[in-house]
Amino acid sequence: MEKKINIAIDGYSGCGKSTLAKALAEALDYIYIDSGAMYRAVTFHMIKRKINKENIADLEEALEEIDLNFKRVGNSNHLYLNGEYLENELRTMEVNGSVSFFSTISQVRTKLVDIQKSLAERKGFVMDGRDIGTVVLTNAELKLFLTCDLETRVMRRKKELDDKNILATFESVRENFLERDYIDSTRADSPLIRASDAILIDNSTLTQEALLSYCLELVAEKLKVY
Ligand code: DC
Repeated sequence: MEKKINIAIDGYSGCGKSTLAKALAEALDYIYIDSGAMYRAVTFHMIKRKINKENIADLEEALEEIDLNFKRVGNSNHLYLNGEYLENELRTMEVNGSVSFFSTISQVRTKLVDIQKSLAERKGFVMDGRDIGTVVLTNAELKLFLTCDLETRVMRRKKELDDKNILATFESVRENFLERDYIDSTRADSPLIRASDAILIDNSTLTQEALLSYCLELVAEKLKVY
């Protein structure tokens, strides 16, 4: 049988993790799992239920109502929240504004990390997020940590939002990145940090093609060893 590895990609919002993860999954015929979409789905549900962020009992009750399912479509897993497929609904500025907060809640993390671990029990997965190399796929053979300068992140994300007809100003995108960077990297439970064995890649000036071909070389090297 063909040898496969698991690939963990972490980094701040908007550094190009999901673009790279999808491209790697396609090139290698692996399966891509977007862990951030799960935190977004939980946040979407909490907003819909008008859950007060301070009220942990209500939050736990609402968490119980959440059923996440996945349907394989090509090299990705489409996420269904209580039977509903949501994509653009998870990418609004409203969800962006609350997702980092809900991601600090340990009960939320425990539920989602369990699901993520069970999804990638075998090999042949590319998962991106904030704690994939440090908590979720600690045994991943290849761990990448992407960085990118703030202005490039803002420009790229604004274009993505424009393409999806989601309204946002440059300033609001910048503010949201700064706020999420801070919350994601300072929270008590599994903060965003580079795993000691993760390869650091600055994606500020690389084209998507150059980044992909560099990462495919890294995969090829790992496949020789494992
Ligand atoms: O990757 P993203 O921007 O879609 O993630 C949205 C938020 O979800 C991010 O600001 C923090 C949280 N998140 C997390 O805490 N852990 C992950 N593994 C993935 C995302």
